[in-house]
Amino acid sequence: MADRVLEAMSRPTVGHLDPQFLSLMDSVAEKLRYVFGTANRMTFPVSGTGSAGMEAALANVVAPGDTVVVGVNGVFGTRMAEMSRRMGATVVTVEAPWGEIVPPERMMEALEANPGARVAALVHAETSTGIHQPLDELGAFLREEETLFLVDAVTSLGGVPVDVDRRGIDVCYSGSQKCLGVPPGLAPITFSQAALDRIEKRESPCQSWYLDVGLIAGYLGSERRYHHTAPINLVYALHEGLTVVEEEGLEARFARHREVGERLQSEFLVRGFRLFAQEGYRLPQLTSAELPGGREEGPPRKRLLEEFHIEVGGGLGPATGKIWRIGLMGAGATHETVDRLLSAVDQVLGS
Ligand SMILES: Cc1ncc(COP(=O)(O)O)c(C=O)c1O
Repeated sequence: MADRVLEAMSRPTVGHLDPQFLSLMDSVAEKLRYVFGTANRMTFPVSGTGSAGMEAALANVVAPGDTVVVGVNGVFGTRMAEMSRRMGATVVTVEAPWGEIVPPERMMEALEANPGARVAALVHAETSTGIHQPLDELGAFLREEETLFLVDAVTSLGGVPVDVDRRGIDVCYSGSQKCLGVPPGLAPITFSQAALDRIEKRESPCQSWYLDVGLIAGYLGSERRYHHTAPINLVYALHEGLTVVEEEGLEARFARHREVGERLQSEFLVRGFRLFAQEGYRLPQLTSAELPGGREEGPPRKRLLEEFHIEVGGGLGPATGKIWRIGLMGAGATHETVDRLLSAVDQVLGS
């Protein structure tokens, strides 16, 4: 994480209605529009982690009895389906094996079979598998439909293009701690006009009071009405992190993530690792791989942490005990990080 982000976080805490803080919030919204690729008015950081962003996205546009079509090929699609169920939706899942994309044509078939579906949801960057989900086809298909397109961009925002407006995404949320390079605790989110119209016409109130966009709008808009206390110092950090993103430029940032991630993946292939994510759809910022020669993954991962202070994730769900997951995100996406990791990997696997 960039020192300047942590330094920004240690600035004196002011009140959430302080004029200086309110103008900082406006600036955060403007910077978020840039990274999301959107002109959406309702763009702000949810006070909570990525899962709070997920809840905010779903709770606002899903009402009891709605049909929601969710692509499920990992932990986070599963979580979206579960949250939608808890909100009283009828959930249609389009399942694909972990490590593969959810084929866009299968999402479209499910939508054709459920013509009244209110929401179609996909995870753009499935952190549990390393899959980079294509969005263009479904986005184009949904432009002609009433169904809202909802996308989880927790691990993609700032690392690969999200392009909310170009892709016709209606609701998109992320997390501060991944490619934005900011401590965890905020979930940037954006709602299209179509999503806001849906929210305005709801017959039942949003299931969550805390995450109700209609109420939060009273604080973000000209009224500046108290809703909940903003996590001031986290907002300082997000503002600084987004300034870093702007200074680097999105294209340069994407190129850096791509170059560094592809290098790690090709070095892993040379060393006999098997990449877990489907070829052609691999995230540069999250490499998932099985160890060479069927080696057990746990003990060398433990050594990486204890001896080299390098934290590598293990597999989740059906991939538990089978893969490593390596994040190269934000300030960590550098050739130096890859060099350090490869040298440590060679030592733990060589001995
Ligand atoms: C794709 C995706 N969605 C949602 C989440 C949930 O975010 P959090 O753990 O910040 O609540 C994560 C977390 O890693 C994620 O990777």
